[in-house]
This record gives sequence, C-alpha cells and structure tokens, in this order.
Amino acid sequence: MPKKNIVLIGFMGVGKGSLARELVRHDPALYALDTDDMIESLTNTRIKKIFATAGEAAFRALEQKTADWLAGNVQNAVISTGGGFYKVKNIKEIGTVVYLKADFEWIFQRILSAPNAKKKLKKRPLFQDAEKARALFAERFEAYEAAADIVIDVTQGERETLAKEILKKCAQKQK
Ligand code: S3P
Repeated sequence: MPKKNIVLIGFMGVGKGSLARELVRHDPALYALDTDDMIESLTNTRIKKIFATAGEAAFRALEQKTADWLAGNVQNAVISTGGGFYKVKNIKEIGTVVYLKADFEWIFQRILSAPNAKKKLKKRPLFQDAEKARALFAERFEAYEAAADIVIDVTQGERETLAKEILKKCAQKQK
C-alpha cells in the first residue's frame, strides 16, 4: 500500500512543526509526529546533549534509525523533521516529501521575532552562530529541493492557506 504520510523538510526554524500541527487540524485522519521529538524520546536525551556528548554522526545515525522505523511502521502521519533529516537514504519510502522553502533572512527573522527566540536558538547546536547557519543554508538549499516531491514557498501565504495547498498537492501525488 502506498504511504499516505506527509514528510516536511526544510531548514531550522522554517516552521515545520507548526505547519504539521496546522495540517492535522485540517485533516483529522492524520496524526503529527516529529523526528527530533522521537529521537529525544528514544534516547531520553535532548538533541543539544546528543550533539555535545555523542557527536553529530551519532545523531545522524539516530535519524536514519528513525527513518527506517517510520518507513516500515507509520501510516497517515504528518512528520516534521530536523533540518538535516533530508539526508536519510530512504526518505521517499516514508511518504510524500514536502520542502518548506524560504530564504535565510526570512527564517532568521522568524526565529528572532518569536517570543521565545533565545530558547529556540539555544536548543539548536547548528544555529549557535548566525554566519555558520547562513553558510549551512547555502550548502543545503539546492539539496532540499532535490529531495522533495513538492516545494512550497512558505513566505507566500498564511499558515492555513499553505496547509490547504499542501493537502491538495499531496492528495494529487498520493492518488
Ligand atoms: C538540525 C536541525 C535541528 C535538529 C538538529 C540538527 C540540522 O532540527 O535536528 O539540531 O542539521 O539542521 P530543526 O530543523 O527542528 O531545528
């Protein structure tokens, strides 16, 4: 049976989690999952601590383990992912991959204007330095697009409109 999951990919802070929650509000048959939350729950360790103690490679291996489990076991979910999850080898086996596209300045402003901006930055080991984050964005932005089935420009439209557009496009792909 083809996978009726929606996998949201994109850079840190683009709004994958909030859009996942908006999507499930529009389709009660869907359930929201988040790969970073799953990894924290599996290891009982914060992402920041995994990076600090086990290192990035260990975190990427946990992302691959999560991808393998999702591909084999999950149906009817909207899955928000960490910003590097697009690199797992079987992402298309999990579901329809939607890239939430925005430029770096838009993303940075979105994070800075959040009421808990400090907390949002602190929990992200790869966003400790704005210039390094900008360089990471430049390194990744084409790869995000290449990994996706659908590209959505999140700078154009309200969350509700974007959610409706994603559901419509995914339904067409999943026919
Ligand atoms: C990462 C993004 C983070 C988290 C980890 C690594 C990345 O998730 O998975 O800190 O490589 O871009 P968010 O995209 O939710 O910040």
